[in-house]
Amino acid sequence: MSRLLSLLLFPLLLAAQQPAVPPALTEYQGRTIAQTMHWQGASWLIRHKRDREEATLQMREQLKLKPGMSVCDMGSGNGYHTIPMAEAVGKDGKVYAVEVQPEMIEMLHKRAAEKGITNIVSIIGEMYDPKLPPASCDMILLVDVYHEFSHPEQMLAGMKKALKPDGVIVMVEFRSEDDSVPIKAEHKMTKAQINKELTSNGFKLVREFDGLPWQHMMFFGIAGTK
Ligand SMILES: C[S@@+](CC[C@H](N)C(=O)[O-])C[C@H]1O[C@@H](n2cnc3c(N)ncnc32)[C@H](O)[C@@H]1O
Repeated sequence: MSRLLSLLLFPLLLAAQQPAVPPALTEYQGRTIAQTMHWQGASWLIRHKRDREEATLQMREQLKLKPGMSVCDMGSGNGYHTIPMAEAVGKDGKVYAVEVQPEMIEMLHKRAAEKGITNIVSIIGEMYDPKLPPASCDMILLVDVYHEFSHPEQMLAGMKKALKPDGVIVMVEFRSEDDSVPIKAEHKMTKAQINKELTSNGFKLVREFDGLPWQHMMFFGIAGTK
């Protein structure tokens, strides 16, 4: 092969060796996928009235976190839930904070350092890969996150691998059935849609909590386990 030909072919050979990035979706199972919330809007996530509007303490009580648990705050943002989760699982436990926006993780680190919290492991994931260690999580919490996934199937598969056999993922999504919930339509989901997407990707509904003012809270285990 001439030197010129090898030079021309080299980039093609290199590209063929890279794993293909799956295409981003704009729709999934009849639902319009929402845009990712930009890190510049992160102050909204730690607004004072959030506790009251979303009953966030009550929501976290439902997680029944215990010292020593290993859990994940998927799409952690600037850590509104990550920090109290880290306090609940204590020094013998850990919280993986997975984010695709490094700026969100920087804000989380700063807030955790101010409180002297050291049991948060941050991970910069890909839109199609949470990059969590296999079988590492008792629970993966997704608050107002799943509807933004541009690669729902790959993310669900990645989270399934990261769960321990009896682990659960907890979906907290604004209720689409309720017009009084003041959130844009594509940032809301119906229970039926959540159930359809999760069960068609190898999960089963194991518990629900219907007591939150604006959101559904649905717990899913891996289908085929007890
Ligand atoms: C509306 S914010 C919610 C943040 C946080 N869960 C809370 O309740 O405060 C959604 C977050 O999900 C993140 N996100 C979107 N797609 C993601 C993905 N594939 N993997 C990890 N994080 C993702 C976004 O970067 C954004 O910070």
